[in-house]
Amino acid sequence: MAPRRSSRVPPDDSPRPARLERLAGPRSLLRLRSDSPERTLEIGRVLGSLLPAGTALSLEGGLGAGKTLLMKGISAGLGVPDEVTSPSFVLAEEYRGEFPVLHFDLYRLARVDDAAGIGLFDAVDGRAVVIVEWGDRLPPGAMRFDAVASLRIAGPESRDIVVAGPKELCDELERNL
Ligand SMILES: Nc1ncnc2c1ncn2[C@@H]1O[C@H](COP(=O)(O)OP(=O)(O)O)[C@@H](O)[C@H]1O
Ligand SMILES: [Mg+2]
Repeated sequence: MAPRRSSRVPPDDSPRPARLERLAGPRSLLRLRSDSPERTLEIGRVLGSLLPAGTALSLEGGLGAGKTLLMKGISAGLGVPDEVTSPSFVLAEEYRGEFPVLHFDLYRLARVDDAAGIGLFDAVDGRAVVIVEWGDRLPPGAMRFDAVASLRIAGPESRDIVVAGPKELCDELERNL
């Protein structure tokens, strides 16, 4: 019998990069290819290990691209002990890791006023890490993201992941993968 694939984040004894102190400075792009769900989790874990308190991150890409899976890795990298689920039905979920971690999913959002209604804009308080699936559903300028991770299905188990953000974040992510 084939071993059962699990999307749970595996026990993590690998070394973590030092968390960045802030996200600022010149911007850059990092293009990554993930060839398995496990690799996407790992990319997320390293990314989450680098994010400072107060980060706002948008996760973009079609249904099934891997946004929630990447978020699971990111939350592990932020020290969240709980299993992260998809907040598609509740639109927002709060976790506690090294900082508060707020996970939003705007897939079902009808109007930008609803984003205010679910507390999206109040969530950005300089301390919580705010991660927004479908952040590109907001009107341009409605929210400032420090970084955007865009995922694209490139094959059954392949995903192109482009991280746009501060060069320091892109460089450290690349160096630690
Ligand atoms: N390399 C990969 N990275 C991410 N997900 C993958 C990959 N290969 C296959 N998958 C599958 O694609 C699906 C992604 O689902 P999910 O993360 O919920 O997507 P989204 O939140 O973007 O709708 C999962 O069923 C996952 O197992
Ligand atoms: Mg999702």
